Amino acid sequence: MKGLVGIAHTRWATHGGVTRENAHPHSDNNGRIAVVHNGIISNYRDLRERLERAGAIFRSETDTEVIAHLIAHRLAQGAGEFEEAFVAALRELEGTFALAVISVDAPGVIFCCKRESPLIIGLGDDANYVGSDFNAFIEYTRQAVILEDGEYAVVTRQGYAVKNLRTEESVPKEVTEIEWDVEMARRGGYPHYMLKEIYDQPATVQAVLRIPRSDLAGVARMILGSRHAFLGGVGTTYYVAAMGQYFFGQFGGRYLPAVSTDEFPHLADVGPEDCLVAISQSGETYDTLTAVRHAKSRGAKTAAIVNVMGSSLVRAVDLPILQGSGPEICVISTKAAMSQAVLLLLASLELGKLNGRLEEAEILRLRDEVDSLSDRISETLNERSGFLHTAARQHQQMKNWLYLGRGVYYPAALECALKMKEVTYLHAEGMSAGFLKHGTISLIDENMYTIVLMPSPGEKELHSLTRSSAEEVRARGGFVLGFRFEGDDASKGLFSEEIVLPRVSSLLAPFLHLVAGQLLAYFLAVALKRDVDRPRALAKSVTVA
Ligand code: F6R
Repeated sequence: MKGLVGIAHTRWATHGGVTRENAHPHSDNNGRIAVVHNGIISNYRDLRERLERAGAIFRSETDTEVIAHLIAHRLAQGAGEFEEAFVAALRELEGTFALAVISVDAPGVIFCCKRESPLIIGLGDDANYVGSDFNAFIEYTRQAVILEDGEYAVVTRQGYAVKNLRTEESVPKEVTEIEWDVEMARRGGYPHYMLKEIYDQPATVQAVLRIPRSDLAGVARMILGSRHAFLGGVGTTYYVAAMGQYFFGQFGGRYLPAVSTDEFPHLADVGPEDCLVAISQSGETYDTLTAVRHAKSRGAKTAAIVNVMGSSLVRAVDLPILQGSGPEICVISTKAAMSQAVLLLLASLELGKLNGRLEEAEILRLRDEVDSLSDRISETLNERSGFLHTAARQHQQMKNWLYLGRGVYYPAALECALKMKEVTYLHAEGMSAGFLKHGTISLIDENMYTIVLMPSPGEKELHSLTRSSAEEVRARGGFVLGFRFEGDDASKGLFSEEIVLPRVSSLLAPFLHLVAGQLLAYFLAVALKRDVDRPRALAKSVTVA
């Protein structure tokens, strides 16, 4: 191709099917404007309807295409310069985006803008670059300018100007030498480690699937050979353990009580014929190490699922399994917890095999299903985060959040609530939906928002019970935000508002709720200007009693 300016996209369109029409870049009616975009325009339906009424002809099913038509519309309405139309159009967009636009009306220029999704300008000798990641241009230059949320840039071969989207005033930017700013490079252009680590999850799930099955079977054998087997963790890892209870019950045919490790020595009657499977990201948590030492002192066997190599827990137990999630820097656990939950699910399948409940073919089928979780998480991140972002911004004044779920969605609700409270400092409580009417329902009023984690629609009984809980809250005038799955027609119209997650099987459904809970907590924390990666009073490893 000839030319001095170009834009391209290496990821598939997030809206619509896999067709040429849905692939970026997207253009206006006359093909004079082209756009590539990461993220999601959450108000694209409204914009599309409005633009169609004004004569725009849409060729794709994507959200991105509205951007091209919107700019064209602004130009037609008499915006003088292309930049003016670009700015006016962008101000109308809701959701998350990193985007780049070129036009025959502004030759040789790339207009780009960022909100939530990363965007970086690379400064070369005879060319400038725009990418979502340093890696896009690192072989041409290490000089970079990192855009912040709400900034846009006008980039030409010779130079660039960064401006504030709201005020249009120039923003002086420092040029970052990529080698020097290791921190930012590690964050991969994301504004916070928390967001980066949420986005790491498709890869960390794959890492869990690469753990040799013989290692998982080792833990399963330890459990099978024990009189009592316990799952132990604290904080998030306790909730992960509680999810594990459901997996071991369903697939492994064994009830493994989850015990919060801070209470383990006071609660678990553990002896030489028993075992404890401890879960810890850091491997240094005092409560979990103490539980393991207590179990060992009573002669019990111990195993651990740990992220940090060489940590105290790895050294303390008989059977350590490294989850391989890579460093988790944000104090709040996201990707590590997700991986641990997946790992427990896979281990429960091995137990099912050992005790004759599951055939090998069935295990392979279920592992294949887990393999597809990475794609479903990516879909959730790419297509649904805009809606969660909008919901977080709209409801940021709300100080009390109640998360409800039943079955395995109950510990998922507990975990979502913990994410919310630790990063936003708001009051959030997770609860089993059935427990609600036994007391807590008296709290329901306009000052309490309830999030209901709907099961996959295939889980008929759980689904109907959870629906009743949502109805109970609404009947008392409570606001209910439903996290439901695509294809779940039975819960349409049930909620005050809803976040629709990609269609998945019941096996994968609770994991997508975790992602939605993480994103909602993250966006709310950003809206409230919290110290996302280092929330007050929290430490990455709690090494004290
Ligand atoms: C929550 C969180 C904590 C930890 C808990 C256990 O996001 O990070 O609740 O999960 O302190 O820590 P680890 O997993 O290091 O044992």
